[in-house]
Amino acid sequence: MTERRPGTLARMASGPHSSGVGPKSVPLPAVRDRAQDELEGLRVELARLRVELAATQGELEARVRESEAKEVQLERYAADLREIFKQERARALELQRSYIVTVRALSNAVEARDAYTAKHAERVAAYGLTVARAMGVALADDPATEFGFLLHDVGKVAIPDGILHKPGPLTTEERAVMERHPVIGAEIIAEIPFLAGDAAAVIRSHHERWDGSGYPDRLAGDAIPLAARIFAVADVFDALTTSRPYRTASSFAEAREEIIAVSGRHFDPVVASAFGTIPDAVLAALASP
Ligand SMILES: [Fe+2]
Repeated sequence: MTERRPGTLARMASGPHSSGVGPKSVPLPAVRDRAQDELEGLRVELARLRVELAATQGELEARVRESEAKEVQLERYAADLREIFKQERARALELQRSYIVTVRALSNAVEARDAYTAKHAERVAAYGLTVARAMGVALADDPATEFGFLLHDVGKVAIPDGILHKPGPLTTEERAVMERHPVIGAEIIAEIPFLAGDAAAVIRSHHERWDGSGYPDRLAGDAIPLAARIFAVADVFDALTTSRPYRTASSFAEAREEIIAVSGRHFDPVVASAFGTIPDAVLAALASP
């Protein structure tokens, strides 16, 4: 076996046919030292990268934890908001119920003075809302409309019994007193915010007539608030179809004829026409709930 001497590696690598002008031969220990240096350098670099990676991982984990904590916090906020919304809705419903109870109590107090008009307000409210729905107008869904219908005659609390309960026709002076009830009613509810708008409009204008011959402001046509125009038909229909001390009740058919007869003079023709589309069975069910 041939002994290889140090320093011959590069020479051997250059091959037997080397011209002798190739790379210079490098001593083997130098090659080994350089490789070891490079290896050491790589180890140091690897260690540095590991440290860097560990730091990055730590940072990422911290961010994930932070993100999870924020998510938990957001879920808590969302749960709190849902709870607040639920409580607010319950409070709003409770408030709405309070309004309805208050309005009905006031309406009953007005009607308690006149046995002959018992439940008149509830019937006209039901008729009026049915007409409003038949017309497809937005005020049908506004609670203030029903409040106005129920409280239309609240001003009658200020009318003396002698006039309010007089069985026969009123004198001119008595009629003037009676015709003050819409204005008095509007004054009574003027400071109640939830009765502003349509409710107040019905209370003040429910005796106006389409041709301007009504009271108290002698409004005509579209100048009369729509809720009041609708109510006027319902009010007269109920008055005609219930018995009073001085006359017996008309049938539904007779009452319809009377309403049609004064449509365009007493009533808004569009409202009177919408009323005409409501079947007797529906009106009968509303009359005797
Ligand atoms: Fe009235």
